[in-house]
Amino acid sequence: MGILDVRDVNKRFGGLQALGNVNLSVAENTVHAIIGPNGAGKSTLLNCLVGKLIPDTGSVMFDGQSVLGRKPYEINQMGISRVFQTPEIFGDLTVFENMMIPLFAKRDGSFRMHAFEGVSHERGLIAEAEKMLDEVNMLDKRDFHAGSLSRGDKRRLEMAMCLIQRPKLLLLDEPTAGMARADTNNTIELLKTIKKSRDITMCIIEHDMHVVFSLADRITVLAQGTPLVEDTPEKIKGHPKVKEAYLGEAA
Ligand SMILES: Nc1ncnc2c1ncn2[C@@H]1O[C@H](COP(=O)(O)OP(=O)(O)O)[C@@H](O)[C@H]1O
Ligand SMILES: [Mg+2]
Repeated sequence: MGILDVRDVNKRFGGLQALGNVNLSVAENTVHAIIGPNGAGKSTLLNCLVGKLIPDTGSVMFDGQSVLGRKPYEINQMGISRVFQTPEIFGDLTVFENMMIPLFAKRDGSFRMHAFEGVSHERGLIAEAEKMLDEVNMLDKRDFHAGSLSRGDKRRLEMAMCLIQRPKLLLLDEPTAGMARADTNNTIELLKTIKKSRDITMCIIEHDMHVVFSLADRITVLAQGTPLVEDTPEKIKGHPKVKEAYLGEAA
């Protein structure tokens, strides 16, 4: 059994079977990639993992507890954080202020803008935010407006906002989508560092095979809502069923 266990999950949208008999087990402290052509059901599966969608049948267990039907803050409290396809940051706030959001939310159970008024007294939280920024190499951009950052740095900030919550499981939906190659490589390096320096399990949905093969310990190939194969990157490379899934998209 893994830290995350998906059992016999089915999800229909009207007449469309978006997920069909999905079984998936993610081992603790590994990086598990889910790949597959557009429309394969990757985002639907991810939404089921964070309680955002409830499958028609089946179970999703994290650390021995069901995630189904839980509110976003409950999912966070269980130790699950998610990096969205489009970075969820506040462009009008500075990098540092963005970092304070998850810290205040954790302390107060919610976030209110006026929380910033007392920020100079929050030495412990300030130090924590700065340490995290340093860890992701963004301390020099502490006072930049988040909206002015490059796409790569926005993503980096968003990851820092997730990591400061000390998640046990980090879910990433196409973390390098739309990025320049240099930013993609920086993201790979950042994720490698995170993997080495913390006890963390990562589940990553990704189109860029370079990213997948650089990071993943195991890969599940999803096609038409059903896992085709699950194996190590070495075995997945050149696997006939993987070619089949992707050629299907090109055809
Ligand atoms: N809320 C929804 N309502 C109806 N159909 C949906 C919905 N979400 C996804 N789908 C359909 O389910 C299938 C899987 O979608 P998705 O999980 O987004 O695939 P992927 O992330 O792999 O590209 C697609 O055919 C998509 O059009
Ligand atoms: Mg998707």
